[in-house]
Amino acid sequence: MARNNLNVFSMIMGLGLAVAGTSAGAAADGDSLQQVVERGKNLFMTATFGGKGRHCNTCHKGGGTAMSELPNGKKFPSLSNAAAIFPRYDEKHHRVKTLPDQVQHCVRDALEGKPPAYDSAEMTELVSYLTSLSQGKRIEMNGKPK
Ligand code: HEC
Repeated sequence: MARNNLNVFSMIMGLGLAVAGTSAGAAADGDSLQQVVERGKNLFMTATFGGKGRHCNTCHKGGGTAMSELPNGKKFPSLSNAAAIFPRYDEKHHRVKTLPDQVQHCVRDALEGKPPAYDSAEMTELVSYLTSLSQGKRIEMNGKPK
C-alpha cells in the first residue's frame, strides 16, 4: 500500500518535471549561472521589450550600480542592494511585491514594453543579474534602496 502511494507520488512528480521541462521557462539547459547573469546584464543594457526605445540602463545607470536618474534628471538610488530588500510591502497597492513583480512593473511602466513572463528565460536572466549586484549584501526585507 505504502509502496503504491509512493509510485503514484513519483509518477505525479515525473509529470510535473516533464511539464516544467517543456515550458518556455527558465534559461537554456546547460548554461552556467555566470552565463545567465551575463545574458541578464546584456538585457539590462540593451533590451527594450518592444517599448519606446528605453532600456533598464536608461534610468538605472552603470548597469544598476551607479545612482539612477530619470530622463528628466531626477536622481534616485542605485540597484546595488535591490535584490536584498525584496520581498517588500507595497504601501500603494497594499500587497507584498517581489523582485520579479518589480521587473514586470518597470518593463510595463518605465519601458512601456511587454513584461517578460514570470517563467520566461528573460525573467530568470534579469533576476539573476540583479541578484548578482547584491551578492554579499545583507538581506533586509522592506529595507531602503542604496
Ligand atoms: C524611466 C526610468 C526607468 C527605467 C527605464 C527602468 N526603471 Fe526600474 N525603477 C525606476 C523607478 C522610478 C524606480 C523606483 C520607484 C518605482 O518602483 O517605480 C525603479 C525601481 C526599480 C527597482 C527597485 C529598486 C529599489 O530598490 O527600490 C528595480 C529592481 C528596478 N527598478 C529594475 C528595473 C529593470 C530590471 C529595468 C529594465 C527592465 C528598469 N528598472 C527600468 C525607473 C526606471
